[in-house]
Amino acid sequence: MADILERLKEEHQLMLKNLHDLEKVNIITPEGHQKVLSLKDFFMTHLQEEDNDFYPVLKEAAQKDSRLEGILDLFDENMKEISDFAFEFFNKYLKGAIEFEFRQDFQKLYATLKTRILREEEVLHAEFAKIKGKGA
Ligand SMILES: [Fe+2]
Repeated sequence: MADILERLKEEHQLMLKNLHDLEKVNIITPEGHQKVLSLKDFFMTHLQEEDNDFYPVLKEAAQKDSRLEGILDLFDENMKEISDFAFEFFNKYLKGAIEFEFRQDFQKLYATLKTRILREEEVLHAEFAKIKGKGA
């Protein structure tokens, strides 16, 4: 249980690495297509893991803590926007791509995910650690 945060942090780092790699690739090539595909798989697996092992702990604690409930609501809303945009991005560029548009959309995705990851670790991981009694 204590290692969940470590595992999620490692996945965040890997996700940022995947994004960094994708930044350098030509999206019109099979390699570019493959990289979008693996980022999508990775993103989905990560969200699934957070939904299984991470958010339930926070949500349970939030039932008795309205401050935490407020924080979770904000993060939840933000995640919905992010995943809507991310899946739109994946669908668009797995169907075929226009290099110029890809660059624009990609920069937005990259910036959005980077910010989300930072905030998740700063705020939610700290809350999770508190609940688990490890100190924030
Ligand atoms: Fe995450």
